[in-house]
Amino acid sequence: MNITLIMVETADGKTTKWQENAIHGWSSEEDRNHFHDLIASHTLLVMGSKTYDSVKKQVHLSPHILRIVLTRTPDRYGKDAKDGQLEFSDESPVQLVTRMEALGYTRMLLAGGSEINRAFLEDRLITDCLITIEPRFFGSGKSILAPVKTDTALTLTEVKRLNAQGTLLLRYTVSYEHTTD
Ligand SMILES: NC(=O)c1ccc[n+]([C@@H]2O[C@H](COP(=O)([O-])OP(=O)(O)OC[C@H]3O[C@@H](n4cnc5c(N)ncnc54)[C@H](OP(=O)(O)O)[C@@H]3O)[C@@H](O)[C@H]2O)c1
Repeated sequence: MNITLIMVETADGKTTKWQENAIHGWSSEEDRNHFHDLIASHTLLVMGSKTYDSVKKQVHLSPHILRIVLTRTPDRYGKDAKDGQLEFSDESPVQLVTRMEALGYTRMLLAGGSEINRAFLEDRLITDCLITIEPRFFGSGKSILAPVKTDTALTLTEVKRLNAQGTLLLRYTVSYEHTTD
């Protein structure tokens, strides 16, 4: 399975503004357009429950994409679920990927947040990353990964400037060959 981590962060590496949940207030319009284009070209999107809680009002469900929210208590979200469009699962990353592969999926977008990203990285499942860097500092906030000790090598394969202010879109492939943890 090709698993693409997709996140937006500041130049000082923050993926949330301080302790606030919403990212739509600070990410650029160009990044939001890039995110929507990417979603339109995928059929499988996975996120953690805290990310879902923070974006659910902006989610437009579609029969063309299956969204899966990982939570240890799927029953809590029973009334939000919609067959084939929005599922809540307590599977581990490996169990989820194995099930999705058996269903014929070959590509997955992993949309955060930091805890889910860490779980997928620890299982060495992330194959590439699309990281947008917004030209601002927040000083405090979450990071792409929840605290973990790792040394994982990335290879930069594409850099794109998205706007005049200097929002950058970086594409990396992930190599676990020399990963230490
Ligand atoms: N800048 C960006 O691009 C970006 C992207 C995504 C999210 N965010 C922000 O990041 C924040 C959310 O990130 P987060 O790190 O707090 O939470 P998260 O990773 O979105 O969700 C964590 C939750 O996932 C569930 N979970 C299921 N299996 C897990 C596992 N193996 N390991 C860990 N968690 C597992 C648990 O849900 P239960 O508690 O329900 O059991 C856990 O509380 C929000 O503020 C969001 O806006 C930013």
